[in-house]
Amino acid sequence: MTLVFASNNEHKIKEIKSLLGNSFTLLSLHDINIREDIPEEEPQIEGNALTKARYVFNACGLNVFADDTGLEIAELNGLPGVHSARFAGENKDSSANIEKVLFLLGNSKNRKARFRTVIALILEKKEYLFEGIVNGTIIKEKRGIEGFGYDPIFLPDGKTCTFAQMELSEKNTISHRALAFEKLKKFLVNYG
Ligand code: IMP
Repeated sequence: MTLVFASNNEHKIKEIKSLLGNSFTLLSLHDINIREDIPEEEPQIEGNALTKARYVFNACGLNVFADDTGLEIAELNGLPGVHSARFAGENKDSSANIEKVLFLLGNSKNRKARFRTVIALILEKKEYLFEGIVNGTIIKEKRGIEGFGYDPIFLPDGKTCTFAQMELSEKNTISHRALAFEKLKKFLVNYG
């Protein structure tokens, strides 16, 4: 089966190729000649994932999936959520994003948070959504140098290491993205 992954992020494409295995031919946006940035302006993660998948489907008519992720902090009413990448500004600066989160949380006792990934799949013109969630806590200071984004301040429930103190292989066994992609894979493997 041929599927477009609506991404040009080489790291993600490689990761997903290895997850899905050889029975799927995965094409990137680059492979199908989509060079422009697809707008991500929806108020919900689901909306952004669907917008990206629909944009590609309308452009090429191929089966396609797209993902979108946000960090949702309970005390901040779900922020940064859909704004996670640009929380502190357009340049997507992870350090500035972390500083903003820590500033807004201050000494708040409720530091519960979750990462949530939604994948939108358009297969034979039908739309499907798959969700992956990992619950955790926002700690008060950065710990670790691995990973990216908010990893240094996210302590997953039941762990003593932040995502930034884990090997990628360990993060991949529990991460929001891995859980969502496992659901997608299961669905595709069992599909007709
Ligand atoms: P995207 O939808 O995968 O591009 O993710 C949007 C933003 O959420 C990223 O720019 C990061 O700031 C944050 N994010 C997504 N996944 C992770 C993760 O696994 N660790 C830390 N931050 C993440």
